[in-house]
Amino acid sequence: MKADVVLGLQWGDEGKGKIVDVLTPKYDVITRFQGGPNAGHTLEFNTIKHVLHSIPSGIFHKDQINIIGNGVVIDPVIFKKETEAIYRLGVDLQQKLRISRKAHLILPSHRILDAASEAAKGVTKIGSTLKGIGPTYMDKTGRNGLRVGDILQHDFKAKYDHLKQKHIDLLRIYDFVYNIEENEEQWFAGIEEIRRYELIDSEYEINHLLSEGKKVLAEGAQGTMLDIDFGSYPFVTSSSTICAGACTGLGIAPTRIGEVLGVFKAYCTRVGSGPFPTELEDETGKVLREKGHEYGATTGRPRRCGWLDLVALKYSILINGVTQLIMTKADVLSDFDIIRICTGYQLQGHFTEHLPYDLQEAVPQYVEMKGWKQDVSEVTTKSGIPEALNRYIDFIEKETGIPVTIVSLGPDRKQIIFR
Ligand code: GDP
Ligand code: IMO
Ligand code: MG
Repeated sequence: MKADVVLGLQWGDEGKGKIVDVLTPKYDVITRFQGGPNAGHTLEFNTIKHVLHSIPSGIFHKDQINIIGNGVVIDPVIFKKETEAIYRLGVDLQQKLRISRKAHLILPSHRILDAASEAAKGVTKIGSTLKGIGPTYMDKTGRNGLRVGDILQHDFKAKYDHLKQKHIDLLRIYDFVYNIEENEEQWFAGIEEIRRYELIDSEYEINHLLSEGKKVLAEGAQGTMLDIDFGSYPFVTSSSTICAGACTGLGIAPTRIGEVLGVFKAYCTRVGSGPFPTELEDETGKVLREKGHEYGATTGRPRRCGWLDLVALKYSILINGVTQLIMTKADVLSDFDIIRICTGYQLQGHFTEHLPYDLQEAVPQYVEMKGWKQDVSEVTTKSGIPEALNRYIDFIEKETGIPVTIVSLGPDRKQIIFR
């Protein structure tokens, strides 16, 4: 068998969590391949609304195994809070969750370094989620990191102290007040929580499961425009959010990737700093934010909103080799007479369909389409989709050359149409 991948094609928050939850019954194993608690994946079912940060979005189904892959970074404090909330919902997490020994740990001092770095940047800050993501991946590639497997070794505390001291030395370059100790007790309690789970060589396990004929779904975090290589650098996250990240983040070969399911919103959002060509800083942007409840699932920050950007979408499709598109949140556009789609940019006096090196300079060029002007949140069949919405979808399919196979028209698990 091959592993299918669900990933975000925009600036994150496309609705990946909901989609993974909906697709889980078709799979045996759900596995997260990168990112950490900077992610907030929202699931809604049976009047429950739940936000996941490090745990895969298949966790609320009965029969599936969920694996946190080696590409993920884990904050033990947040992980423990997350597991407690899931136990309260009656899930036998210990039976269902496995964690790669090679996943890296976010230390309290990583979070402080993140905050100090952002404070020092001032107006040029990334707008990070302040979860310590950047510093943790820096220690990973700098070959200084602490991994989940280290917690089983006798010298774990010494290794922890060594890395913490390195961070204290580094923090001297910042004018920043901090207190590492205040979080350490909770952090070590989180380490004890991690110990309760099966800590595995996930690369062996996932490849073995695939060889046995098990169906594996790889869940990405963030989105392609936040990818460390291909996103709007430096306003990106610190991991490979793209399909290739599923290979390095799980230890599966490119030849073992099956369907690449790219999730996108029917419009665009971005949280944090950085260029966003189609951003609407007017009343329309506000309408999208309020109707779409566009507030960060992790930080609560208001998300910046704008029209769908096909230049960026096509770029993401190219980088990921997307085989199927999944569109979410078209229900949010229901009140608009006219909906705009960006099909190219004006750049230094020329029209281009290429994503430029400096996205800040791109001036979006739009086509206009008639809105559907009706509530679609109750539509559950393909035939129930209004004609104008079908035209919107057809246009996207024609422009990208990729079929939109799933349409989500509301946050609940049941609000889904397979086309
Ligand atoms: P993720 O990070 O990609 O998993 O997305 P988030 O959970 O951060 O943000 C998506 C938000 O939109 C969440 O509040 C979801 O409950 C909600 N959502 C997902 N799909 C839809 C949809 O089709 N329509 C509406 N109105 N909301 C949706
Ligand atoms: P999900 O998985 C949206 C953004 C931050 C910031 C930048 C870097 O829920 O889609 P970081 O904390 O990673 O160093 O922040 O990336 N960001 C996200 N935006 N959704 C996410 O995850 C994000 N994770 C990080 O706002 O601009
Ligand atoms: Mg999110």
